[in-house]
Amino acid sequence: MTMTEHGAEGKLRLVVLASGRGSNLQAILESIAQGTLQAEVVGVISDKRDAFALKRAEEAGVTELFVNPMEMEDKSRYDKKLLEICGELAPHYICLAGYMRLLGQEFITGFKNRIINIHPSLLPAFPGLKAQEQALAYGVKVTGCTVHFVDEGMDTGPIIAQRAVPVLPQDDAASLSQRILEQEHQLYPQVLQLLQQGKINIKGRKVISK
Ligand code: GRF
Repeated sequence: MTMTEHGAEGKLRLVVLASGRGSNLQAILESIAQGTLQAEVVGVISDKRDAFALKRAEEAGVTELFVNPMEMEDKSRYDKKLLEICGELAPHYICLAGYMRLLGQEFITGFKNRIINIHPSLLPAFPGLKAQEQALAYGVKVTGCTVHFVDEGMDTGPIIAQRAVPVLPQDDAASLSQRILEQEHQLYPQVLQLLQQGKINIKGRKVISK
């Protein structure tokens, strides 16, 4: 499947992987409900049994699955299981939304250029965990969020879109995270809608949006 096969006609089929609260999942679901995103979330998968994202999925009538890492003998087995489930759900794209496990090579190759992540910094600054704390500790005056394709590295894949927010003198991790999150909730659905319209192309590491 290429990125443009669904074209402008069909709804984008999305699988969301989430480990936690799922506010980005909620933003995606709301954009779909409001008609600003022509998509369908065909499944939400979590590696955490009590992830609030699973409750949000259930409430929205979306298939939700907890895939228990403790039941798999190793990471590769977990990846195979995910691949199998995602293969059955047949999404155009896999959206990571606060998914805390690193995906393995096999999964990334299986869905090449079809896995998207949102990260709470202006990459390549502050990859990995606690990006907001990293930004505060570094003393930057501007940070933000990034939606990018996922490759084998940690938050290193081709950048699709970014939004900047100011870092204010009185900020702590909570206030900065909240300011970034407001932008995340707009940016993620917008990028997905561009994908639905076939307006995003990758050339090497560069992403060109029409
Ligand atoms: C967001 O800040 C996102 O950028 C990061 O993890 C957080 C997930 O939040 N990858 P939520 O679970 O979507 O509320």
